[in-house]
Amino acid sequence: MKHEGASSVSGVDVEAACVPAVWSRRELDAILAAPTPDNNQPWLLETRNSALAIRLDRSRLLPSDVDGMFDLIGLGAALANVHIVRGQANDTDALPVLIENADGELVEPPRDVWPPLSPDVCRELATEVPRRHTNRRPYARRVPRRVDLDALAGAAVADGALEHRCRVAWLTERSAIGKFAGLVARCDRLRFEYPAFHAELFKQLRFRPSEVQQCGDGLDVRTLELPPGAATFLRCLRSWSVMRIFKRLGGTRLMALPSRWSVLRSGAVGLLAMRVSVGDADLSSVSLEQWREHCLVAGAALQRLWLKASQLGVAIQPLGSLPLFFARIHRLRGEGLTARDQKTVQRLEEEYRRMVPELSGWTLAMAFRIGYAKPPQYRSPRRGRDAAITLSETQRVSR
Ligand SMILES: Cc1cc2nc3c(=O)[nH]c(=O)nc-3n(C[C@H](O)[C@H](O)[C@H](O)COP(=O)(O)O)c2cc1C
Repeated sequence: MKHEGASSVSGVDVEAACVPAVWSRRELDAILAAPTPDNNQPWLLETRNSALAIRLDRSRLLPSDVDGMFDLIGLGAALANVHIVRGQANDTDALPVLIENADGELVEPPRDVWPPLSPDVCRELATEVPRRHTNRRPYARRVPRRVDLDALAGAAVADGALEHRCRVAWLTERSAIGKFAGLVARCDRLRFEYPAFHAELFKQLRFRPSEVQQCGDGLDVRTLELPPGAATFLRCLRSWSVMRIFKRLGGTRLMALPSRWSVLRSGAVGLLAMRVSVGDADLSSVSLEQWREHCLVAGAALQRLWLKASQLGVAIQPLGSLPLFFARIHRLRGEGLTARDQKTVQRLEEEYRRMVPELSGWTLAMAFRIGYAKPPQYRSPRRGRDAAITLSETQRVSR
């Protein structure tokens, strides 16, 4: 498995400036190893009042996101990684970690991002922090063992400690997986059909190995496991005017086929939901601060599940379009979508709800396919440590 990425963007040795004071390399690497939407890696790391501060770089956030939902899931995953690597070392001297609240002030992360985990559990999961990855290959259709599914759900809810906040449901019947594949493909189509989403996708796609090397972020097309010729074809659709014609001809249906196939080639589908409000109907009235907290807790839960899957040799690929478009409908009242597409998403959600009555009243945070598969040939790149560390004001002055 090849791993590419740039390592440095700055002339100063920022790592040397920051690391000895407060950061350990292990913690830094754990943050940088976290999954992020379209591999945007929005990290700005700095030391503040003897604490480790993780801010989100606004210029890297994705416009399709819904009040930061996906970026916060990524941040929750990064926090889970820090929790786990600290827990394995039983690091009681570790400095506090701060994140931004909705007003941009640095605060401690919500308590439920860091549920109690035994040192043994942390040790097992910590080994997986650098190994975990997204696998977009076709998987065997064999359903993972029930004990393994239970172990994954158990990792997400921290063995019951977070049952009131997160819930995992599984689709294991072929007919249900087939139906779900159709929902994902329909929703994925929307990503190609709006200029803003199209622009965002192409901003993140990296078509050439040299781009991957240079940027160290984004979606290396080699990791997408597209059918032969599809990457070249995709590249031709870079311009919105070409894409618009293609859309008029009904071509986006074709573009969603790989999503459908990949879900069909899965052992099961997982659904991670969060308890934001009693029903999705009033999601828009939940305060931004509460929304952020739920997304962070869900992100940490997803990451524990993913690390556990890595330990068990189970492959995972997140399927982000359904949760993101459902959230757009409920939290942003369908903002940016035509009335017709709003209705389409609502219909997809009704179908989804009928498939998982046990998630009634819960908000979908992430869907993902799982199964047994060969490891991917290429892994997503990372920006180097230097690129994420910013010097705090005090350090700038003292240097
Ligand atoms: C919130 C979130 C949403 C994601 N959505 C998708 C998705 O819809 N499809 C997909 O293939 N990968 C998705 N991913 C996986 C990221 O693309 C992946 O984590 C990133 O490219 C880094 O690669 P890695 O996981 O192999 O380290 C998502 C990840 C996160 C955190």
